[in-house]
Amino acid sequence: MPPLVDLLAGRIARRGPLPFDEVMEAALYDPRGGFYATGGAAGRHGDFVTSPEVGPLFGQLVGRALDRWWTDLGRPDPFVVVEAGAGRGALARSVLSSEPACAASLRYLLVERSEALRARHADHLDIVGPAFAFGPPLPDDDDDGPGVPTADGPVVVSLADLPSVDGPVVVLANELLDNLAFRVLERGADGWLEVRAAVGSGGSSTAVVELLVPADDRLAEYADRLVSDVPIGARIPVQDAAAGWLRRALDTAGRGGRVVLIDYAATTTMLAHRPWADWLRTYAGHERGGHPFDRLGAQDITADVCVDQLARVRPLTTDQTQAEWLTALGIEDLVEEGRRVWTERAHLGDLEAMRARSRITEAEALLDPNGLGGFRVLEWTT
Ligand SMILES: C[S@@+](CC[C@H](N)C(=O)[O-])C[C@H]1O[C@@H](n2cnc3c(N)ncnc32)[C@H](O)[C@@H]1O
Repeated sequence: MPPLVDLLAGRIARRGPLPFDEVMEAALYDPRGGFYATGGAAGRHGDFVTSPEVGPLFGQLVGRALDRWWTDLGRPDPFVVVEAGAGRGALARSVLSSEPACAASLRYLLVERSEALRARHADHLDIVGPAFAFGPPLPDDDDDGPGVPTADGPVVVSLADLPSVDGPVVVLANELLDNLAFRVLERGADGWLEVRAAVGSGGSSTAVVELLVPADDRLAEYADRLVSDVPIGARIPVQDAAAGWLRRALDTAGRGGRVVLIDYAATTTMLAHRPWADWLRTYAGHERGGHPFDRLGAQDITADVCVDQLARVRPLTTDQTQAEWLTALGIEDLVEEGRRVWTERAHLGDLEAMRARSRITEAEALLDPNGLGGFRVLEWTT
């Protein structure tokens, strides 16, 4: 199979310089070598650490949030929760191990685009076929073999895309939208330019390099609506795929549901005033990578999510930091309990003592205002 760089060079030869989003889409998701398609993932043994991968505390608090939303809805059974961009399933695992009150009613649908990551859902979760996700609870039946849920939930299903299901549904996504492909514009002296990908000479081998072309009228007008008074050379992302995904998620949530997105986020204007390499980042093996067109398929490509672009789809119901959200869910009580158990059991050095100590350090990471605690929790009730 040719490397991604050759596949993209072939496309450029046929169609001319490609928009940034097309290169990003291939670099992350192309089945012939995209970063996520070939198993790139969050986790200590992966490429970067996300809140669910810090430890079980985040999932325990998401479990509390699910209970609040379930109660607000009048405790429906089934209670359908869609976790989109579920990665290898770490959040689902810790939510379910925390045994939320809604568990018996819960239909927990993991939605993950990467087949390689979907294949890992069954490692730690009792996954059943999609047919069981949507109907009423089924009785256990020995003849049906494995994969059939018992009458009580949780019923856990793994899917490749958002389901079509009657609402109300809770759609939750941690660090998904920052990975959806976007176009990139640069402010030139005479108007907006678009960052495209052309073929350059990388010594003896083929390389994909940047080429600036005048932005078409639609993009230029849209950029003018997003930002004004930006310096020449400033860059912005145009996050149409994220906006399109939000539209679908709001439909999936249905009447009375909610969409909750947790991510690093800013406004387009804020990004225009930052060096572009600060908000458009690459990662591999826990290290920052190089230019997004380098090592195509071997590094993650990500950008801060532009809240103002999402708000054009529908105004947000709430926007708070992760630290504020977790505090409202009672993280401090759980840390206090961890401190007490650690004080009582430190001398034993047993598993319970270690878990209690780990909860304290997990909370520090999840609340850090310069790290995960500064992420935004964006919520739409539908
Ligand atoms: C940064 S990872 C976050 C994983 C996990 N939520 C976490 O917090 O550890 C983003 C994940 O979203 C997946 N993804 C990207 N686009 C998707 C889509 N349209 N639907 C479902 N999953 C998607 C990627 O394959 C990747 O596993």
